Amino acid sequence: MKPTPGLRRQIIQSLAIMALGIILIAVFGSYVFYAIAVAYMPGSISETWMPSRVEMVWIACTIAAALGMSVFVAIRLSRRLITPLNSVAHSLREVAQGKLDARAPLDEQAMGEMAQLVSDFNAMAERLQSMTREREFWNAAIAHELRTPVTILRGRLQGLAEGVFNPSNELFEGLLRQVEGLNRLIEDLRVLSLKDSGHLEVKRVNVRLAEELNTVLQAFAAPLAAKGFHLQHELDANLLVVCDAVRIRQALMALLENALRHANPGNLRVCLEQADGLVQLSVEDDGPGIDSRLASDIFEAFRRGDPSRSRKNGGSGLGLAVVKAIAQAHGGHAICRPSGLGSSFVICWPAGT
Ligand SMILES: Nc1ncnc2c1ncn2[C@@H]1O[C@H](COP(=O)(O)OP(=O)(O)O)[C@@H](O)[C@H]1O
Ligand SMILES: [Mg+2]
Repeated sequence: MKPTPGLRRQIIQSLAIMALGIILIAVFGSYVFYAIAVAYMPGSISETWMPSRVEMVWIACTIAAALGMSVFVAIRLSRRLITPLNSVAHSLREVAQGKLDARAPLDEQAMGEMAQLVSDFNAMAERLQSMTREREFWNAAIAHELRTPVTILRGRLQGLAEGVFNPSNELFEGLLRQVEGLNRLIEDLRVLSLKDSGHLEVKRVNVRLAEELNTVLQAFAAPLAAKGFHLQHELDANLLVVCDAVRIRQALMALLENALRHANPGNLRVCLEQADGLVQLSVEDDGPGIDSRLASDIFEAFRRGDPSRSRKNGGSGLGLAVVKAIAQAHGGHAICRPSGLGSSFVICWPAGT
């Protein structure tokens, strides 16, 4: 849309043109009128203070022309001022009543600031609507994630209370796993809500990150080996990194958990390196990889690759969102890129901060 001049300039311009027009009619028009009257109707001009009939007609015509011009300018101005204002006011009322899809039509005639007001209002309504949609989606997704473990817990506990199930270690371990899953879901939600409110704090200190990450790799070595993964790691042991080691360990755990849940058994490479002022931590698997259309979105909360497979393999759908939140809290970012048949998840952040 071409930029329209400012409201104040347009009002001054219109009023100045109108005043000029009226002066032209009144002053120059009179000259012309008298010139014609003197030349063609010499007797028609009054010699006293009372205007003659012809002069009265001339005065009436001048008043009518001036009035016409002012009405024309007033209508034009009000159309450009009041119409967008009214449409914003109308849509505002609708939004206030809960109709979040209300939008003010953008009239081509709307002037500078008015056009800006309309488009700002529409942008605000759009944002409000998408935030509401997002909140509804989050509520539904969280309720959905809570339902399964709570149903299982309830069923098993009820069975125990009624004597249908015999108390056994296996049963209690199963219950404990459900509670741990719930606990993790709550912790992930907490991290994400802290991030959304800008309160996800990272305690940045200088650490030998390789040592920290090794403890995570050791904890995962057995379950990975049991599933047939071959863990390879290239961690620069001398690298001193400024970061919150607890959070980075949490991110690595989420990525390794994902490999366990979603990747095909095979090689799993974990690398930590520093290049071009960026610290890079990557976890790379051998497949099945992530659809390239999904790769940019996969870090959004509750976004899953193959839904049936992901659901079967469990997980709250928040793992990668937490990874992204941790990377961003370090002033960096997280990406997923294809690597051979599999995918590589990379977290990087500036080395100096
Ligand atoms: N290593 C991987 N290989 C293939 N797909 C993966 C991998 N890691 C994550 N994904 C896909 O990304 C989705 C989102 O991961 P995440 O946010 O951790 O949620 P969750 O693991 O709880 O399903 C997973 O559901 C899965 O479809
Ligand atoms: Mg996960």
